[in-house]
Amino acid sequence: MSHLIPVLSGMRPTGKLHLGNYWGALVPWIQIQNGGLHRCFFMVADLHALTTGYEDTSGIAASTEDMVLDWLAAGLDPEKSVIFVQSRVTEHSELALLLSMITPLGWLERIPTYKEQLREITGREITTHGFLGYPVLQAADILLYKAQAVPVGEDQLSHLELTQEIARRFNRLYGAVFPEPKAILGKAPKVPGLDGRKMSKSYGNAVELSDAPDVLWKKIQQMYTDPRKTKADSPGHPEGCVVFALHKIYNPDATAREQECRDGRIGCVACKKHLLTLLEPLQAIQERRAALARKPGLVRDVLEEGSRRARAVAQATLAEAQAAMGLRPRS
Ligand code: TRP
Repeated sequence: MSHLIPVLSGMRPTGKLHLGNYWGALVPWIQIQNGGLHRCFFMVADLHALTTGYEDTSGIAASTEDMVLDWLAAGLDPEKSVIFVQSRVTEHSELALLLSMITPLGWLERIPTYKEQLREITGREITTHGFLGYPVLQAADILLYKAQAVPVGEDQLSHLELTQEIARRFNRLYGAVFPEPKAILGKAPKVPGLDGRKMSKSYGNAVELSDAPDVLWKKIQQMYTDPRKTKADSPGHPEGCVVFALHKIYNPDATAREQECRDGRIGCVACKKHLLTLLEPLQAIQERRAALARKPGLVRDVLEEGSRRARAVAQATLAEAQAAMGLRPRS
């Protein structure tokens, strides 16, 4: 076991996943899990959900259930990976507090995601201690498992750099406890939303993993295509076309399709109908999801067992950090 490289990643409980989450995060996680080189910890970041959503917490339990069902249906395997809930492993909160002692405010205030969210999120009070400390908690998530690799999207790189800085500072002050984690930036395809912007639940432009064929067809019909292609036989410009972006992922002959479009040899309606058939593999995931959802208590049991296994590792690391800081005798 010990030769396996520890990996940790997490997602905030946002409910059912969309294709952007699927290709951007879940597919890379499953590949790492099945590659056999890593010891994988995958976490529902429910405490992180509180940093911006502390006022209405009523959806967290249902969103966790929905998200984890998607994880399992897509191929995350509790036999191979430790799948757990952040708040159930209280060591996350404890290590975050210890790390907060050595993290200068300036390091947090200059983080781009922090500045961006302060600008973007309006009408809610988010100038809280917890929100500023979001990346300290994330550092604790990673360092508790001595993760050396963290699969994340580009938007998380600044959080990873902060984690490295905190690890370095801790090691310098108290002795070498934490390895410096590296990001695994996958070559995940970018999946645009229906309107061509980034796919996001909050933009209402998402295709969900669990969309049934009739819903899929409605969404495909809405997808942004080249506005200059006014007739089936007018030449098209696939760059920026959402239907083509999905062909690139699901159609092994996407290059030929690109040429057909440019030559005006295929119309958007035919191209969209073809896409609907290309998305058929989603049905296998949906069938697995439905079967899993019929097993009462399945998600609860997976998370309970995973949290138990995570806790064993987290406790050992926290004890080491506490000893290094002089809070308990060295064992
Ligand atoms: N901040 C991450 C996101 O929004 C979620 C997350 C929380 C995470 N803790 C983590 C990712 C630890 C990687 C490692 O996507």
